[in-house]
Amino acid sequence: MSANKKLKLGVLASGGGTNLQSIIDQCREQKIDAEIVLVLSNNPDAGALERAAKAGIPSVCVNHRDYADRQSFDQAVIRTLQEAGVDLVVLAGFMRLISEVFIAAFPQRIVNIHPALLPAFPGLHVQKKALEYGARFAGCTVHFVDTGVDTGPIIIQAVVPILDNDTEETLSARILEQEHKIYPQAIQLIAEGRVKVEGRRVHIEAASNNEEALINPSL
Ligand code: GAR
Repeated sequence: MSANKKLKLGVLASGGGTNLQSIIDQCREQKIDAEIVLVLSNNPDAGALERAAKAGIPSVCVNHRDYADRQSFDQAVIRTLQEAGVDLVVLAGFMRLISEVFIAAFPQRIVNIHPALLPAFPGLHVQKKALEYGARFAGCTVHFVDTGVDTGPIIIQAVVPILDNDTEETLSARILEQEHKIYPQAIQLIAEGRVKVEGRRVHIEAASNNEEALINPSL
């Protein structure tokens, strides 16, 4: 993106909005060459709406309970995002499934953060599932959204070791810390025009790859 045309973000969040906050902060610190033009929540009590108000960012609640079905709810969300001139839809703890109509309206312009190392543990309560499974590593993933659940092409991941004394809470907190780093980074890569999707694989121009293997417990 050129200096005078910032990427316009529409952030969708259903809950507390700590990921939203990390994006607000990094936009403000000019670490992301983007601006949030709208925060949208399906939940009138979402902390994310308060965070938006505090930051002076336009926000709106589109309550799914006011709509007969997912299609009509999605249509209302699409309209609202289009009216705000959103370039990139950022799902940040948005706990509604996205219909095909929504994806068609923003082709390869919807991203999501998921608190697991996809393709392992899609869906809900995934930190608990990774812990109970006995995995040695958990993590988080930013990916493009396609018609499946947590199946779209992967942009960036962070790996978080699972510790012997971890609980769902401690593990979730350590994963969340990494979410707050990789989500702004993914948005910045997109804003810089460095992200190209080639089939399932995402190519990132001039990426500095991490070549080190991770072993847990360590050798
Ligand atoms: C985050 O952990 C995010 O990865 C997860 O919800 C949390 C929202 O936290 N998203 C999903 O599970 C999506 N399936 P936040 O409201 O503090 O950003």
